[in-house]
Amino acid sequence: MIRSVVQGCGAYLPDRVVTNEELAKKVDTSDEWIRQRTGIRQRYIAAEGEFTSHLAIKASERALEHAGLKAADVDLIVLATATPDETFPATATRVQASLGMTRGAAFDVQAVCAGFVYGVSVADSMLRTGLASTALVIGAETFSRILDWNDRGTCVLFGDGAGAIVLRAEEGKGTAEDRGILGNALHSDGRQHDILYVDGGPSSTRTTGFLRMEGKEVFKHAVVNMAAVVGEVLEKVGLTPADIDWLVPHQANKRIIDGTGRKLGLPPERVVVTVDQHANTSAASIPLALDTAVKDGRISRGDLLLLEGIGGGLAWGASLVRW
Ligand code: UT7
Repeated sequence: MIRSVVQGCGAYLPDRVVTNEELAKKVDTSDEWIRQRTGIRQRYIAAEGEFTSHLAIKASERALEHAGLKAADVDLIVLATATPDETFPATATRVQASLGMTRGAAFDVQAVCAGFVYGVSVADSMLRTGLASTALVIGAETFSRILDWNDRGTCVLFGDGAGAIVLRAEEGKGTAEDRGILGNALHSDGRQHDILYVDGGPSSTRTTGFLRMEGKEVFKHAVVNMAAVVGEVLEKVGLTPADIDWLVPHQANKRIIDGTGRKLGLPPERVVVTVDQHANTSAASIPLALDTAVKDGRISRGDLLLLEGIGGGLAWGASLVRW
């Protein structure tokens, strides 16, 4: 049985850190409000001329180095982003060229904050069906470019960054103890479009637009849908919440993360939280959190990880990974 096994991970954050205090000088907000409602203390913002592809390339180089592989070994790039460099071509092709990769396929996946889980699922399916053998799955975003800096309800919540993992198809017995992606579950509900979207696009307004969100509504859906999809993916692979070593959730709001951890009966020290440092980096948030906990030694080989996220669409999903 073929399974997609994680070979390594990497991440990259822009140099510039913007604290809540700094934001409060420009926007009618406060460090206290932001921390209490979201857990965010700071975010990283890309420099002028620093694009999503630049962040993605750096994260990919680090992931390849961690995996002990070269770009020439890779034959698939799946880049999850809602903030591509250009309308087309796929930002993934820029990453492909920059890494010096001359074969295989590279394309973007657009599922906003659920993008990384969607990307993992797509790459996993392609590896298991033999369409590719070694994949880079990247989440990279420059959400600072689509924020309305006059809307305090949204502009304080997001940041820029990128994270990546390398997956390789490996033959194995296919038990829950074997390493690799054990299962995925994906969902979307287009009826919820209006509670989180960008009010622009090439086909509609011919502008890039700004992010619009009804935070309270998204919050309610997040709590319900996360619990359901987590239960679904566990049931698919015949495991229970007690089997999970690490919850590595999308980092939108500490209160949502805590709620999911509590529902799973996981102690807080088994939940990876980086929203305080990175804010919400959309598709990049899960691989950024993953890289943090792998590199600081919390996550080790053989651990069972639950990745989950929800965002615009609404789109949501979860993946179970034996690290
Ligand atoms: O990654 C995609 C998925 N996204 C999410 O999961 C986000 C989910 N939603 C949330 O995280 C929360 O709903 C927010 C953090 C966005 C907002 O928290 P909330 O507790 O739902 O607050 P609210 O939007 O109901 O606003 C409460 C009050 C309002 O004032 P009034 O009407 O009570 O007087 C807002 O105007 O807080 C006010 N407010 C602010 N005050 C200071 C909104 N934004 C700010 C701000 N600073 N930045």
